[in-house]
Amino acid sequence: MVGWSVIPLLDHLNPSWSFPLSAIEFRNVEKRFGQVEALQAVNLSVRAGEFVSLVGPSGCGKTTMLRIVAGLDTPTAGSVQVNGASPAEACRQHQVGVAFQRPALIASRTALANVKLTLEITGRQNSLSPETLLQDFGLGEFLHHYPHQLSGGMQQRVNIAAALVHNPNILLLDEPFGALDELTRETMGEWLGQVLLTTPKTVIFVTHSVEEAAILSDRVVVLSARPGRISDVLEIELPRPRSKEVRMQENFLHQVARVREALYRAMPA
Ligand SMILES: Nc1ncnc2c1ncn2[C@@H]1O[C@H](COP(=O)(O)OP(=O)(O)O)[C@@H](O)[C@H]1O
Ligand SMILES: [Mg+2]
Repeated sequence: MVGWSVIPLLDHLNPSWSFPLSAIEFRNVEKRFGQVEALQAVNLSVRAGEFVSLVGPSGCGKTTMLRIVAGLDTPTAGSVQVNGASPAEACRQHQVGVAFQRPALIASRTALANVKLTLEITGRQNSLSPETLLQDFGLGEFLHHYPHQLSGGMQQRVNIAAALVHNPNILLLDEPFGALDELTRETMGEWLGQVLLTTPKTVIFVTHSVEEAAILSDRVVVLSARPGRISDVLEIELPRPRSKEVRMQENFLHQVARVREALYRAMPA
């Protein structure tokens, strides 16, 4: 957990609100899709500025948790609060940015035009400059390139820029680097850590990779197989952001082993 975490959030909150203790709060959340019980008794508080990863077997409800925070789905029972309001309200105020594994880029728009689309949709005037953001993301030379002219890692950076350009204080990332090769993935993780240093956000990050969860997160939440329940929450006790070199350190390998053990415990027998 880093010290700057709550400061940027203050800019985005209505000062008449009382300051919420947590940026995202799941209270006893249950989600059913007909006969399928996707989530059961999920309780989780994500602190402002915290980076939390969700790991767990396929189908355990990770995407469903993100969709509920984004206001794209509603719990069957229990509640979720985002900055002290309902997800629908937070969504109306454009407080949440979302990026999924497959970059949601429009093929006929350039990188810059794709990022600007978020501003057209949200109508946010006092946002980050799309040009500067893409430059900061190492894409200054590619502003006018179309998605098919960009590598997978570049497309995902454009995708994340589009999720950040309206300056939401919460970022939801659903396996954003899942389609990339391992080394690109590591570089993207390192890059994301740097981005969050200059543009702090509360993040929920879904990944299949135990190492990726451990290197990026303040806490890793392990979900059990369906119905998804929180079976473990592990603090990663290393300062953030963490460089590639950290991956070789004994302490980091120890943290990875802890997460892996927790994941094995959560898997069906
Ligand atoms: N719209 C839906 N209709 C029916 N079942 C769904 C729907 N969305 C998700 N599910 C089911 O809910 C469970 C959790 O899905 P999901 O959140 O996508 O899991 P994960 O992201 O962890 O792989 C799965 O069994 C999935 O098939
Ligand atoms: Mg999923």
